Amino acid sequence: MKRSQSRYVCQACGDSFLRWEGQCRACGAWNTLVETLVREASPAVHRRSPPASNSAPVPLANLSEADVARIPVGIGELDRVLGGGLVPGSLVLVGGEPGIGKSTLLLQAAAGISRAGPVLYATGEESGAQVRLRAARLGLLDGAAGAAVTVLAESSVARILESARAARPTALVVDSIQTATVDELEGPAGSVGQVRESALRYMELAKGDGIAVLLVGHVTKEGSLAGPKTLEHLVDAVLSIEGDRSGALRLVRATKNRFGSTEEVGVLEMGEAGLREVPDPARAFLGEHASAEPGSVVGATLEGSRALLVEVQALVAPTGYGTPRRTAIGLDPGRLALLVAVLGRRAGIGLGSHDVYANLAGGLAADDPGLDLAVAIALASTFRDLPVAAGTVAIAEIGLLGELRSVSGLERRVREAARLGFTRAIVPPARASGPASPGITVVAARTLREALDDALGPRDG
Ligand code: TYD
Ligand code: MG
Repeated sequence: MKRSQSRYVCQACGDSFLRWEGQCRACGAWNTLVETLVREASPAVHRRSPPASNSAPVPLANLSEADVARIPVGIGELDRVLGGGLVPGSLVLVGGEPGIGKSTLLLQAAAGISRAGPVLYATGEESGAQVRLRAARLGLLDGAAGAAVTVLAESSVARILESARAARPTALVVDSIQTATVDELEGPAGSVGQVRESALRYMELAKGDGIAVLLVGHVTKEGSLAGPKTLEHLVDAVLSIEGDRSGALRLVRATKNRFGSTEEVGVLEMGEAGLREVPDPARAFLGEHASAEPGSVVGATLEGSRALLVEVQALVAPTGYGTPRRTAIGLDPGRLALLVAVLGRRAGIGLGSHDVYANLAGGLAADDPGLDLAVAIALASTFRDLPVAAGTVAIAEIGLLGELRSVSGLERRVREAARLGFTRAIVPPARASGPASPGITVVAARTLREALDDALGPRDG
């Protein structure tokens, strides 16, 4: 009897029910019931005691160093985000929008890992023939990966686990967590209950059998992984692939990583033969910034320990009718509204009756106040139809009084700009002047108005 094995448990109060309902009858919360297996039905899962060797307390000083062996994935940027490679027996969730390149990345990763040991690639999304087609496109059929990566087109979690336990691969790829189902649950594939229960079972495989498991998770429209909270605390690492699907650049970011820093990002480029590393990530987001155009300004943002130069583009146009629009792509809309207000009040650039658009080139999304100045100058530049001289980079946070503030890693950003051939950096006044970067003139501006004068020339009158 299927029915007796699952209950709908309220995530707010913990009460359980036999059937799904929109509202919990016990506490009144809405949409909180999640189908959950009654664990008595599978005692093996519940009663397994932890290995004896781990259970004795050890003095802090005697703990052995976390010297985790790592399996290189073979894609440098991905290894970097993982913290130096894939940890054996770890559970990694890879999220991203449909079509962003999750299957591509994981098939390439499977090929890379297969140099260290066999990989099982379980897919409920595609047929074996489709995977083969992709592998051919990625040039993976002829190499060693052709034999070392085995493909299983299967959507039953139990059968995937059975195969993995029989084959004992170094790593298991599951594409995707939303397509594989647990038989004992009634809920459809992709429901929170299904996703959570299957993730639990993959975790048992990872920890119990020492098989690294890479789970693909689709991100919903609102940008969250399905069943997000329940999955994120379960897994060892959460990687997300970001970028503009119509463009080529992809950012791989760790939003959680038990075996490394969550600071690092990887930059990859989608091409004819899959995802490949970008020769110089720092300049990947510069766009086709060859000549100086009004509305285009280069800023520098920090992603982890890495400085990325990025082209900010802005456009303003008189509003036809109704409320003026403010559209931010890759930037925080609230921050854009604030900059528009500061430009009006502190720099005499009134955009109150203009539609305002601002975006970052290359599909980059950054929530970095250090880009404020580049955005503000781009807006002023398009408003006054004056270009900023090529070779200029602008780096500062802007306060409500129109003052420029320093940002973290300012020197690193300036140094990177100098390395990429920029000749002029507009920055906030230094508290203590650090070592100058050769080849770049550093201009300190105290206020937005001063920075605009420097970038666009003083206003007439
Ligand atoms: P895919 O990996 O299937 O995305 P996801 O699994 O996240 O849904 O691939 C997404 C896109 O990448 C698809 O539109 C085709 C494109 N693509 C390339 O441009 N080059 C390639 O070599 C491959 C395999 C895919
Ligand atoms: Mg896919």
